[in-house]
Amino acid sequence: MTEQKKDPRPGPPFYITKEQETQLRLAAEKISPSLAITQATTFDEYARQLMVPPAVMELARKAADIRFTTWEIEGIRQLLAPETAGKVPLLRQILLKKLQDDPSHPPYIRVACTGKGDYDDLAQAHGYEVTHDGDYGSPVVLEIWPAQHYSPMHSHGDTTGIVYCIAGQLDVMSYATLDWNAEKRGLVTLTPGVCAWLTKDTYAVHKVYCPLNAGPNPTYGPNGNLILNDTGDFGASFHVYLNEDELSVAVGDSHSRDAFDYIDEVTHEKKQFMTYSDLSWRVLRSVLAQNARNWDR
Ligand SMILES: [Fe+2]
Repeated sequence: MTEQKKDPRPGPPFYITKEQETQLRLAAEKISPSLAITQATTFDEYARQLMVPPAVMELARKAADIRFTTWEIEGIRQLLAPETAGKVPLLRQILLKKLQDDPSHPPYIRVACTGKGDYDDLAQAHGYEVTHDGDYGSPVVLEIWPAQHYSPMHSHGDTTGIVYCIAGQLDVMSYATLDWNAEKRGLVTLTPGVCAWLTKDTYAVHKVYCPLNAGPNPTYGPNGNLILNDTGDFGASFHVYLNEDELSVAVGDSHSRDAFDYIDEVTHEKKQFMTYSDLSWRVLRSVLAQNARNWDR
């Protein structure tokens, strides 16, 4: 019997061992203020959430009842699913285009809940006339995280915001600074109804990952890392980012939500990303509704 050689180097998305993961999950249980906002069920949770800034609590409270409907979840799963009978569904088409542009990490999808998206024109096949490029800096964004895909480590600058899970499951790693070797502060899993948050002073740097199963035959990049899954399964989060001048008390200059700094997964260099969205919710909702109408046919 040949002994299977185990790669000792932990891989993406967080490059940590199982033991380190346990320690980081324990760290997240103790850190104050709490990394995640939930309805507290213990005195300790209550105390750790007490110091979450009021502006953040207000955003979280307003989002608290938002959920996808069952048909929206099923519709998104169908639009993300791998090609069948030569037909590539809309969201998988966008993943493939994004992967072509940036193969440094497995892509995720940003849906602007206001304004326009970069790939709205792809929805033309569904009967929509759109000829413009996307807006950037939408304050309200739905993010769709295909199973096993993840963001690079990035900073939200001086914005104040929430990352509110509305479907599936998401892991959020919080970092002390924006640097490939930054100290990891804690790892939390978000499930629907649980919210991560950030301000310019607190938890502004993070990485988001969907830990669901990648399906039977995912695609791996030249460095051996997964770059495209083989399933329609996903996690989703609802993001709200306010610039400083949109908070009740404005202080100093802001690094606004129009762009954010991130660390390239391959070169480990700091770069900047203009926060373009891939689709607008107006278009995605119409495509989902049109798909749902075809289910009974
Ligand atoms: Fe983020």
